Amino acid sequence: MLGVFGLKIGLIGVGTIGGFLVKRIQEDSSLELCFVLDIDPEKVKDFSEDIVINSISEMGAKKPDLVIEAASQQAIGQYAEHVLSTTNFLVLSVGAFADKGLEEKVKGLCKSNGTKLFAPSGAIAAIDLLKAMQSELEEVEIVSRKNPKGWGREDSEKTIIFEGTAREACKAYPKNINISATVSLNGIGFDKTTVKLVSDPDCGGNRHTLNVKHAFGNFVLDVKAQPTKNPKTSSTAAYSAFDLVKKIQNGINIF
Ligand SMILES: NC(=O)c1ccc[n+]([C@@H]2O[C@H](COP(=O)([O-])OP(=O)(O)OC[C@H]3O[C@@H](n4cnc5c(N)ncnc54)[C@H](O)[C@@H]3O)[C@@H](O)[C@H]2O)c1
Repeated sequence: MLGVFGLKIGLIGVGTIGGFLVKRIQEDSSLELCFVLDIDPEKVKDFSEDIVINSISEMGAKKPDLVIEAASQQAIGQYAEHVLSTTNFLVLSVGAFADKGLEEKVKGLCKSNGTKLFAPSGAIAAIDLLKAMQSELEEVEIVSRKNPKGWGREDSEKTIIFEGTAREACKAYPKNINISATVSLNGIGFDKTTVKLVSDPDCGGNRHTLNVKHAFGNFVLDVKAQPTKNPKTSSTAAYSAFDLVKKIQNGINIF
């Protein structure tokens, strides 16, 4: 039985990030994992039968306070309506919102149901300052460098593989572009945010540089993290998602 501040969590996608979240949730006595859903039966075979669901229509009986998507961009389109009709939704595959139709639909669902959509800063940071300065932003650029494998390529030397808007980048590299989407949603949008993607055999990790100019100055953020066993996924993304779960539960206080 959870206390007054306990949170019942449903998880869609038990892969690299989802697996990390399961462990953290199970270690925290104020959190309860009330369901897991994955299209791959292998991923849920070790969970007790009473928390595995095979379809989102079984979600209601579990009464989650929060559902986390750590699956794929398609999963957001597939499940958002069902989840947001009764509870809050924390999504990792933020690149899905490069689809304007989906962004509008999800905004409408939150408004009409009084539910909320959350997205962690993920593999980037400084989203708090970006959002705080949203009305004063002049230029926002994100440069992402990964080992060729992280882009699904085999370059033997440094290659700029994409330059354009965040909306175009999300379409061209849908599985790699959650950072551009997170920056766009918290900043000047998908059509004004510029993106450069670099495939670099020597970069030794996933590195993201955020360059922001606003009415009163500028800031530059440079983050580097080792990829997880999924070369497209930075290790920090899962930590950031769990931190957001705790903020939803406890607010933004540090103690
Ligand atoms: N926001 C960020 O900064 C950030 C960072 C890294 C990854 N991501 C995104 O998070 C998501 C998860 O990443 P990962 O590395 O854990 O991926 P992963 O491939 O390791 O795991 C995904 C899991 O979801 C399951 N799945 C896929 N589609 C599904 C669906 N429609 N319904 C139910 N289950 C489904 C898969 O079977 C798999 O078990 C990806 O979309 C990835 O792009 C976001």
